[in-house]
Amino acid sequence: MFARFTRASRFAARSFSSTALNAYKVSVLGAAGGIGQPLSLLMKMNTKVTDLALYDIKLAKGVAADLSHIPTNSTVKGFTPDESDGLATCLKGADVVLIPAGVPRKPGMTRDDLFKTNASIVRDLAKACAENCPTAAICVICNPVNSTVPIVREVFKSKGVFNPKKLFGVTTLDTLRANRFISETVGSDPTEEDVTVVGGHSGITIVPLISKTQYKGKIPKEKYEALVNRIQHGGDEVVKAKAGAGSATLSMASAGARFAGSVLNGLAGEQDIYESTYIENPEFKDEGVEFFASRVTLGPQGVKEIHELGLLTEVEEKMLATAKETLKKNIKKGVDFVKENP
Ligand code: NAI
Repeated sequence: MFARFTRASRFAARSFSSTALNAYKVSVLGAAGGIGQPLSLLMKMNTKVTDLALYDIKLAKGVAADLSHIPTNSTVKGFTPDESDGLATCLKGADVVLIPAGVPRKPGMTRDDLFKTNASIVRDLAKACAENCPTAAICVICNPVNSTVPIVREVFKSKGVFNPKKLFGVTTLDTLRANRFISETVGSDPTEEDVTVVGGHSGITIVPLISKTQYKGKIPKEKYEALVNRIQHGGDEVVKAKAGAGSATLSMASAGARFAGSVLNGLAGEQDIYESTYIENPEFKDEGVEFFASRVTLGPQGVKEIHELGLLTEVEEKMLATAKETLKKNIKKGVDFVKENP
């Protein structure tokens, strides 16, 4: 019938689960926001996290106090700019930093429209990361990801601590949407789908590679085009439905937690950890596209291997060419921003 747990066996199980390999510090910057709160909750539920540090310009202490009552292995602390060294303390010793700080879109806005406000937020937070946790895996959620990730690179380079294996633009939401939407198109189980999405994280820079799935050539043209369009512009559905109150937060928190979980699994030396993510990438560097989202294998040092795109269909090649043109401009915008506003 019921397994009987003695007090002693429960303690034994607990001490077994908190080995050194599963003891990581995760810092969330922008932790009190629409994404930050549910993302912090999901990180609190991750058994690899023992130290959860939350920073926001408002409410971080309240969110931390709330989460700290959940009986998982981690301690939770909140930091705000009220304390002079709040951000530094939040970041010191971090293994993974998640950055959902920044303003979200309103209806009619593109992600690029957010640049003016978010570029300086990301630049300043990147400076604090470079100074306090230069070896952490930095996961940028703040939009426009195509430009904010290059901003972080430039800041880290200027401090002499840039490691391309540890800087990630979080594009996992595009993967989640692709998996969900393709399942609706073909009538399959979404949890079984694994669509590779490459390129960048905005509209036409999002390139889903349906040809790498079992449905290659099997989805009629019209349905295929509608599917690709929905994956590229799925974010707009949420922005519109929220009618001025923001963009995707809950699905993004789920995506961010999945990505952070994979990074932690990689750091812990687990095998076969794959994600698509926007990274400094040699694949199209000679064409001036220095950052590109590819499928990668994650490992103890961050990115272990970048998977080449391989053979694409003619339609995918066209999408790729368009994406690269826009990415080039988006990347330059981020790089120029740091040059002009160091
Ligand atoms: P939100 O406005 O609800 O939350 C942002 C939080 O950042 C707020 O709590 C705010 O106080 C905080 N913040 C602002 N400046 C800060 C600073 N200098 N330091 C620390 N915290 C600061 O916005 P939401 O919906 O959480 O979105 C956050 C960002 O994530 C936006 O840029 C949005 O476009 C982006 N996003 C990215 C996605 C992706 O797939 N990568 C998907 C959806 C949104």
